[in-house]
Amino acid sequence: MDSFADIDRSDAAGRAWVHDAIRKVEADANRSADTHLLRLPLPTCPGVDVYLKDESTHPTGSLKHRLARSLFLFALCNGQIHQHTTVIESSSGSTAVSEAYFAHLLGLKFIAVIPRGTSEEKIALIEREGGSVHLVDDPTAISAEAARLAIETGGHYLDQFTHAERVTDWRGNNNIAESIFNQMRYERHPIPSWVVVSAGTGGTGATIGRYVRYRRHDTRLAVADPEFSAFFPGWRDKDPSVHTDRGSRIEGIGRNRVEKSFVPGVVDRMISVPDGASVAMARAASRVLGRTVGPSTGTNLWATLVIARGMAEAGEEGSVVTMICDSGERYSCTYDDDEWLADLGIDCGPYTDLAADLLGGAPGA
Ligand SMILES: Cc1ncc(COP(=O)(O)O)c(C=O)c1O
Repeated sequence: MDSFADIDRSDAAGRAWVHDAIRKVEADANRSADTHLLRLPLPTCPGVDVYLKDESTHPTGSLKHRLARSLFLFALCNGQIHQHTTVIESSSGSTAVSEAYFAHLLGLKFIAVIPRGTSEEKIALIEREGGSVHLVDDPTAISAEAARLAIETGGHYLDQFTHAERVTDWRGNNNIAESIFNQMRYERHPIPSWVVVSAGTGGTGATIGRYVRYRRHDTRLAVADPEFSAFFPGWRDKDPSVHTDRGSRIEGIGRNRVEKSFVPGVVDRMISVPDGASVAMARAASRVLGRTVGPSTGTNLWATLVIARGMAEAGEEGSVVTMICDSGERYSCTYDDDEWLADLGIDCGPYTDLAADLLGGAPGA
């Protein structure tokens, strides 16, 4: 009889706060329109249609708005976030901007653990949403520092790198893949031959790769990776323990280890893109689009145009979809500045003409 125990921790007021918090997050989704799918005319690849999913138009300016919403809902529904929880994240900046927005929406304290050197614009965006930043010298140490800070403050570490692949409903629920396929319905090649993404957490790729299999589409997933990232060698060598000795130079993508949200089984092809090529393509694409895009969009587009060019040369027809991850406005003091690039050892020179050539006479290239 002594072993009988009954501990009731139900907390009606606490649950009411969580219910209202979830309502607010869902209301945000309901107020938001879906992001556009833009066509990129490519005169030199007549049989291949290229599309750009413009994630820079989210309320917080990047593809991370979707992930931040899912991470908050996941933690709220797990009973990990309550009325007075300090929320903590490790990020290269974009996710932190979006999470600061949701923390603000819920009246919660938010701390972003980010690498020193993250663009001033992103720091200003985090602080504008009421978040605070905790700078770390070694970009490869942001996750460990965020975990430590969560213990020290008694807060909750959202940990995008671990949870990104599981918090997003890959079967649908208007995830990024379902949105793309809906918007492709009336195109001449509605089922893309390829979708091309880059990887920071790997979550976007995991969602798209699982969705196309779940819906039994023949669409293949290609992942573009910048220099010094572990994703490409980890996938190539089928070795998830690969580490590189330094962080990526393209903000938001590439990691020095193969993060848990990178799902190699859904990746059909990987393309390693030189950092100079990423920046050169981001600049060329900004001219073509008439507005600026971030460097990771350059990485995506370089790989996309290599694939499109290959299809055209093989006489293959079809469509290829990639992503505008965020706007270039966030990088005016960094990737737009040749001196800043030179300090980082990134040289666009060798890639500028090739970028224009790959954009194959697209107006403004
Ligand atoms: C600007 C930018 N592009 C692309 C990505 C990659 O997205 P994911 O984390 O879903 O792999 C990130 C991720 O942080 C990012 O910040």
